[in-house]
Amino acid sequence: MLMRSKNTQNNLPRVNKRRLLQTPRGMKDILPEDFLYYDYLLQTAKKTLEFYNFRRCEPPILEKADLYNKGIGSNTDIVEKEMYTLKTKEEGEFLALRPEYTAGIVRAYVENGMFNWPQPVKLYSFGPVFRHEKPQAGRYRQFYQLNIESLGDSSPALDAEIILAAKVFLENLGFNHNELEISINSIGCHKCRPIYIRALTKYYQQHLKDICTDCKKRLKTNPLRILDCKNAKCKNVKEKAPNFLDFLCDDCRNHFKNVLDILDSLGISYVLDKTLVRGLDYYTRTVFEIKKKDKAGDLALAGGGRYDYLVKLLGGLDRPAVGVAFGVERIVDELKLMKKKLEYPKPKVFLIQIGDAAKKQAFILLEKLRKANISVESNLEKDNIKSQIKNADRVGALYSLILGQQEVLDGMIIIKDMVSGLQETIPFDRIIDELKKHLKETI
Ligand code: HAM
Repeated sequence: MLMRSKNTQNNLPRVNKRRLLQTPRGMKDILPEDFLYYDYLLQTAKKTLEFYNFRRCEPPILEKADLYNKGIGSNTDIVEKEMYTLKTKEEGEFLALRPEYTAGIVRAYVENGMFNWPQPVKLYSFGPVFRHEKPQAGRYRQFYQLNIESLGDSSPALDAEIILAAKVFLENLGFNHNELEISINSIGCHKCRPIYIRALTKYYQQHLKDICTDCKKRLKTNPLRILDCKNAKCKNVKEKAPNFLDFLCDDCRNHFKNVLDILDSLGISYVLDKTLVRGLDYYTRTVFEIKKKDKAGDLALAGGGRYDYLVKLLGGLDRPAVGVAFGVERIVDELKLMKKKLEYPKPKVFLIQIGDAAKKQAFILLEKLRKANISVESNLEKDNIKSQIKNADRVGALYSLILGQQEVLDGMIIIKDMVSGLQETIPFDRIIDELKKHLKETI
């Protein structure tokens, strides 16, 4: 029966206890079985990226909100609508939960004087980011990113290296290169972009009646983002929009040509996508996304590009950079669809104890076995032998050890092969040697 809460009687707002016990919308618990995939992804990233000489660097989850206002751009969806911000109680400082890594990494590069290190500085990060988006499949409000940055050099070789490392990482996870599609574009620099934006704006102004209200708004606030529109109404207009590649200045054209040449020589296939502009304002020149070929819509596994002005914009020297971020949940979903099987290591031994004296000895023995590097599990809270044997089976132990009142008195212990069912009684102090011998034979 539902009880009226005291709060209600005092006319205070009623607390919905069921709601209190749910995660916030768009956020989820990462349960142990899922964490296997996150760990697998991080371990594969570590192996792949450290081999390519990237080193791990983690900025804080909270940064000053202005870092993102300035870095990502105040007219982007992320800053305008999606940032989780808070004001600290004492200092009244405005902070934001990071909606992405790049701005934080650039701040860390400047603040820690990394521009004095040998360039490029190659960093990777792995952790949660937060965006107040409309939750749907593959789109969460808290999600993990694996982020890679190469800071301090403008060479097209670094754009190609980032794309190569991203592709190798996905292949090392188990993706087949045939099922990945890399879309690529160049969105120029401060010299050529204004010329392109003028042409794009002029073109869209001639088609105002054929575009959605969002695009009309973007035309005024952030015209380049108009190419990001997914509304069916705008499809025709978008398809015939001017192509940025026709407007690139000589430097940007050469840069892009070099990136593509290196990708060609590496045998990395790509698709030129003239509508790819990305949703963050810091990009210059190369932008790219990696998708699973069979996935319709805008669910990219990874997205990135060059951002040559961001270090300077955030108070550093003139240092160009390039990077990419992967959506971990989207990759985890794909790994599950691919039936990638991951398991926690199973305990090789299960210790069964019956009676108080045995229980006492069991505690000591468990630690002895673990110190001897033998993985062991037990149910010290149980006394019933049947249920303990059942559990030994359930966890998949190769051997169980049985310690009862009589064995304790005799200084013995029973070792049982869980596959053959054969068992023998051995002196208690020989247990580690015997187990090691048996386990060696089994492995
Ligand atoms: P982004 O495209 O905003 O780029 O995010 C990178 C990836 O994060 C996406 O390709 C997608 O896989 C995943 N992602 C984005 N939003 C969500 C969401 N709501 N739920 C689940 N996954 C999501 C960046 O964040 C840039 N900082 C990448 C970069 C690094 N550029 C240069 N360096």
